[in-house]
Amino acid sequence: MTQHHFPESFVWGSATAAYQIEGAATEDGRGPSIWDTYSHTAGRTLNGDTGDVAADHYHRWADDLGHIADLGLDAYRFSISWPRVQPGGSGRFNQAGIDFYSRLVDGLLERGVRPVATMYHWDLPQELEDAGGWAVRETALRFQEYAAGIVGALGDRVHTWTTLNEPWCSAYLGYASGVHAPGRTEPAAALAAVHHLNLAHGLAGRVVRELAPSAELSVTLNLHVIRGASDSAADQDAVRRIDALANRAFLGPMLDGAYPADLLADTASVTDWSFVREGDEKLIAVPLDVLGVNYYSSTLVRAWDGVSARSDADGHGASTSTPWVAADDVDFLPQPGPYTAMGWNIDPPALTELLLRLRREYPNQPMMITENGAAFADVVSADGRIHDDRRIDYLRRHIGAMADARAQGADLRGYFVWSLLDNFEWGYGYDRRFGIIRVDYDTQVRTWKDSAHWYQRLAATGELDQAAE
Ligand code: FCB
Repeated sequence: MTQHHFPESFVWGSATAAYQIEGAATEDGRGPSIWDTYSHTAGRTLNGDTGDVAADHYHRWADDLGHIADLGLDAYRFSISWPRVQPGGSGRFNQAGIDFYSRLVDGLLERGVRPVATMYHWDLPQELEDAGGWAVRETALRFQEYAAGIVGALGDRVHTWTTLNEPWCSAYLGYASGVHAPGRTEPAAALAAVHHLNLAHGLAGRVVRELAPSAELSVTLNLHVIRGASDSAADQDAVRRIDALANRAFLGPMLDGAYPADLLADTASVTDWSFVREGDEKLIAVPLDVLGVNYYSSTLVRAWDGVSARSDADGHGASTSTPWVAADDVDFLPQPGPYTAMGWNIDPPALTELLLRLRREYPNQPMMITENGAAFADVVSADGRIHDDRRIDYLRRHIGAMADARAQGADLRGYFVWSLLDNFEWGYGYDRRFGIIRVDYDTQVRTWKDSAHWYQRLAATGELDQAAE
């Protein structure tokens, strides 16, 4: 690995999401979200864990800001809980909820840290799900209203507004495989959700442009790096199909102003896409100041011959329903290790590949890595410290991969480690720890892992050190 130096202007940050850290699920007027309902439904999350208390950030936000400042971060990416600021998802806003985020934003600014706010990191107000959720168009219109409320309140004190986090997960894990809230397994609804999430992005993006013209606009996508098991035409067609569902279903309308024709053809047995109305695609293509990319691991596919045993090792949780709508003839193959505690393969060169692809296809689009990180079974040593060398190694190699892409011309402006704190890892509850800061869930005490000290040094110097041989 070569030594890398990042310029002073490069933004170092960390990321979290409301439901994963805040807790205080019923306090100060917060309404229920689909994740409250889902996590409180027996059998949905590991050990029945819920976000009721989580990392108690709602009460400890000021201390947590202290950690962010001590880490020397330039930016902090957090999400706003829709049901905390607009409990029923329409109409009345909850001032106490808005005040919470207002204090958080001011606290960041006082410490010289850029607020990067995600409007939607998966916690849809339950009332909107009861009315059809992302499968219905009305939800996108409600999102526009919600966006106007929060952008009106926080405006350009927020440096970067991110409309959605990983709409891929919201649509396909929420509505097709059901391993995320709301837990539905309806392929046609999942594709309708893809479109209504895209539409919500376009509508909310235009709200930002209008109400906070000096703020940056972004969206965060979990783009997949998909490789074929062989060069055969059949395996390469499997790559194309999964690329359409995973990547181009979002990049197409958002950056090119149109859904890819092959996506519509591939999924014709499930839906005719008549929920896409005249003008929608143009609306969705609101220009982005920066594209957020989340990356953890890569994907290997083959064309399924219809007889041999399938692996379905796509890394997106166990369900008898697939998230890959209308792609039953594609199999996902296990990959060589090493793996993280999520069972995800560690593949830093795939990140370079992804960023160079984006550079090639969207040469004028600035980017940032809005999430990257790893869960490992951390151990508190006798000295009280957490020597999480594997996490440091993961981060070092992925930041190196990003630097390689920069060296080849990719316009990357920043990097956000997932996550600031250990937190509620969705279906895996508190069992999987991604934080650079450990949370003891019995006492809520925060302890810096070795990775936090390592990241602090990187943020201060911009020098990516080499692994000890
Ligand atoms: C991403 C999510 C984030 C976190 C990481 C591990 O898909 O955006 O909330 O759970 O994965």
